[in-house]
Amino acid sequence: MHILKVFTTSTTFFFFFLLFFSMPYLAATSNELCLNSFCRHNEPKIHFPFRIKSRQPESCGYPGFDLFCNEAGQTLMKLPYSGEFMVQGIDYLTQEIWINDPKSCLPKVILFHINLSGSPFKGVNYQNFTFFNCSESFHLGVTPIVCLSDSNYTVFATSSARVIEIFSTTSSPCKLIKTVSVPVQFPFEEQILSSDLSDDLRLTWDEPGCGKCESQGGQCGFKSNSSHKIVCSHIPQSGRLPRGARYAITIGVGVPTSLCFLGLLCFLCGRVKSSVRRHRPIQELNPSIAPQPTFFLGLDGPTIESYPKIVLGESRRLPKPDDHMCPICLSEYRPKETLKPIPECQHCFHAACIDEWLKLNATCPICRNPPPLQPLPALSVDVL
Ligand SMILES: *[C@@H]1O[C@H](CO)[C@@H](O)[C@H](O)[C@H]1NC(C)=O
Ligand SMILES: *[C@@H]1O[C@H](CO)[C@@H](O)[C@H](O)[C@H]1NC(C)=O
Ligand SMILES: *[C@@H]1O[C@H](CO)[C@@H](O)[C@H](O)[C@H]1NC(C)=O
Ligand SMILES: *[C@@H]1O[C@H](CO)[C@@H](O)[C@H](O)[C@H]1NC(C)=O
Ligand SMILES: *[C@@H]1O[C@H](CO)[C@@H](O)[C@H](O)[C@H]1NC(C)=O
Repeated sequence: MHILKVFTTSTTFFFFFLLFFSMPYLAATSNELCLNSFCRHNEPKIHFPFRIKSRQPESCGYPGFDLFCNEAGQTLMKLPYSGEFMVQGIDYLTQEIWINDPKSCLPKVILFHINLSGSPFKGVNYQNFTFFNCSESFHLGVTPIVCLSDSNYTVFATSSARVIEIFSTTSSPCKLIKTVSVPVQFPFEEQILSSDLSDDLRLTWDEPGCGKCESQGGQCGFKSNSSHKIVCSHIPQSGRLPRGARYAITIGVGVPTSLCFLGLLCFLCGRVKSSVRRHRPIQELNPSIAPQPTFFLGLDGPTIESYPKIVLGESRRLPKPDDHMCPICLSEYRPKETLKPIPECQHCFHAACIDEWLKLNATCPICRNPPPLQPLPALSVDVL
């Protein structure tokens, strides 16, 4: 009789416990089925507000953020007045996207069709570039735009007022084509004469504002199929365990532990009546209440996130031209990788490598300079 009562109580408790753990996962929203997708293995990971039209349902993407894949497995985006672009990288936290020309002649797109109106995107940094078309091949220290030039004429672009002045004179072999406002990755320095403009364009968007949700490890999406209200679901209580890991912990640890707990409970109930409450064993089972370090010597997440990023173009051009290897993981930079220069000293690292470092140390791993708390407003990219 007594045993039976204890068993019933603990079984009820056990089921209540299971329900408690599975609750957050049962509270499904319409973005429940919106899983990450990608066109090809090393292409950017696509989730809300972006969606791959052929692979993810309409409710998984925000209007204007539709992407598609081409036969080569590239991720493409179509802008209403500028045609197709190749998506090189997406930063969901800072709400930025890096794009380039799938036909590998970005300056041509910039010169003839760059127009972001009708799209949710705008540039992060704009810089005016003036294009010149010169009737003869010449070498005046300007970088020619190879895909727009041939043996009989040279096209180049500059943002230097002095160069524009020199080549605008009537005696110059060059004709001014036009000036275009370009959404560059980083503004070029005045003293740099010309750019081949092959580096990715860097765009941002305001709506939907999912950056905060992403930074908390949540999942941003529409509240339901019919509503265009944005909700942030699945925010972990603390820490930043990915969702898969939370499932694994809940099932892998939670269930066996709760069974042990049940056994222990029965055992204790049979012997010492009122000791269960004092121990509060539930807390020990909850992975989200695992002990957290209370302070770090490094920088906090939002500060680390605020540092500028570079997505490498095919040219792999960097603020310090002699950089070609990440000093942390010692592997060479490859096109499309996301790097972070430390604002103060311009030393470059893989974004993932330096993020981990800065969490532990607030200084540049190479020169040991502490980075400023706020990122510097402008970074220069050396092209010569
Ligand atoms: C929401 O849309 C998805 C796909 O578009 C569909 O499978 C699902 O049944 C819809 N849910 C509701 C509640 O209408
Ligand atoms: C972009 O295209 C729209 C629509 O054709 C036009 O109204 C606008 O003036 C264009 N903007 C630029 C900068 O060309
Ligand atoms: C680019 O040129 C336009 C027109 O001359 C000017 O209004 C704008 O301020 C310039 N932008 C930059 C970033 O210099
Ligand atoms: C440059 O000039 C040449 C000769 O006038 C012309 O054929 C060519 O299309 C021009 N290129 C551009 C990009 O305007
Ligand atoms: C350059 O000009 C010469 C003479 O006008 C012409 O024969 C040649 O085809 C041109 N080259 C190109 C690449 O257009």
